[in-house]
Amino acid sequence: MSSTPIIDFLKEYAEKNTVRAHMPGHKGAFPGFLSEAAKYDITEIPGADELFCARGVIRESEKNAARLFGAGRTLYSTEGSSLAIRAMLYLALINAKALERAGLRPKTERYTVLAARNAHFAFIAACAALDLDIEWLMPESCALLSCPVTARMADEALAALDERKTPPILVYVTSPDYLGAEQPIAELALAAHWHGVPFAVDNAHGAYLGFVENDRHPMKLGADLCCDSAHKTLSCLTGAAYLHISKYAPAVMAETAERALALFASTSPSYLILASLDAMNARLESGYREELAAFARGLGRLKERLAERGYSLVGTEELKLTLAPKSCGYTGLELAETLRKRGVECEYADEEHTVLMLSAQNGEEALRRIEAALLTLERRAPLEKMDLRLPKLTRVMTVREAMLAPQEFVPTERAEGRVMGNDHCACPPAVPPAIPGELITREAAELMIAFLKTECAVVNG
Ligand SMILES: Cc1ncc(COP(=O)(O)O)c(C=O)c1O
Repeated sequence: MSSTPIIDFLKEYAEKNTVRAHMPGHKGAFPGFLSEAAKYDITEIPGADELFCARGVIRESEKNAARLFGAGRTLYSTEGSSLAIRAMLYLALINAKALERAGLRPKTERYTVLAARNAHFAFIAACAALDLDIEWLMPESCALLSCPVTARMADEALAALDERKTPPILVYVTSPDYLGAEQPIAELALAAHWHGVPFAVDNAHGAYLGFVENDRHPMKLGADLCCDSAHKTLSCLTGAAYLHISKYAPAVMAETAERALALFASTSPSYLILASLDAMNARLESGYREELAAFARGLGRLKERLAERGYSLVGTEELKLTLAPKSCGYTGLELAETLRKRGVECEYADEEHTVLMLSAQNGEEALRRIEAALLTLERRAPLEKMDLRLPKLTRVMTVREAMLAPQEFVPTERAEGRVMGNDHCACPPAVPPAIPGELITREAAELMIAFLKTECAVVNG
């Protein structure tokens, strides 16, 4: 079983009763609520290692994780996948510049990432910070939260960019998405590599995918880089995430990874979050697979019963239950509200969907309560579906220019014809209907309103 070097150190330190003449200010003695946890909430003192220069207990724990996830190198993030996404884009840029210097890539004035459109806002923010351009992979059916791309689409887009002598620095997809749909990762990896481009996956929702019976973690399917939010589906504290780098990824990526994370991260990582990642390694090796398999089977049977009762289900992921409840006469938001009244709090809901994000930790009892809440719901006449497809928008400024330009807030119903600015993008789902620098059309404004965004930031002037 995996060792737990971080936890061992924290316990030993807490037992020593040392005078804590270091951060944090609570000195391990938080009154009341949190009192137990506070003992272990320390800073990077000698022996506790340093998150982005890990040579001791953190490095040992990260090695355990790398082995379990099949990665060449795994690094911890205490600031979620959001931090890992910024680091992945930086690593893609560092790699492109190294290839350029070696004469293995044409020199380009600007750098582009080829990405599926349903990307999380952290990706957009990273493109602004690094001044990257985005070429969207966007099928006709692309909606805000679902963007089913194929290897053929990626191949054609890559061929077009090759022809223009502007190969992208990275192909980037989000899989699973917020609704629980998955992209064809192995095929996309092949297409990217065929064109000599690294491939990254935002696997924030799929940390557990390496432990299901049909193991399909992106590290096993050919991704060079991927991030997993351990806190979303594993038993880890909020903020816990992994940045995985494949053993087959360009060497410069693993070599630069710590500095890539440090560039965007706080210098005060949470040891409670690190301890939860450390503990998870041990758990992944002691019964977790079996627990997950049993829970996934139970949830699979529940999905079958719901489908028999007329519920429309979305997605392929084992741990998500995504309902499209208009077939039963409810909007997604109404169903979430009804479930709340029946003691079930959902992860996300919009006009069309209600998303329940579950984990092995929920157990059978939770499934029984969800089933009871859903199967006793009064059936109504089906409602008409809204068209949530994303319009293709014209870019008139770079993402960075739009982020740095003066901004003003306008009611969304009057945003048509304005350039999208640095708008707050609420999570969930944190996927913006218009990207900074894009011209807002009537359809885009309507879509924002459908997602309850009644005011938006636009470029002023
Ligand atoms: C698809 C996707 N990627 C990335 C993130 C960011 O993850 P984190 O909250 O771990 O920073 C989220 C958050 O919900 C997400 O849904």
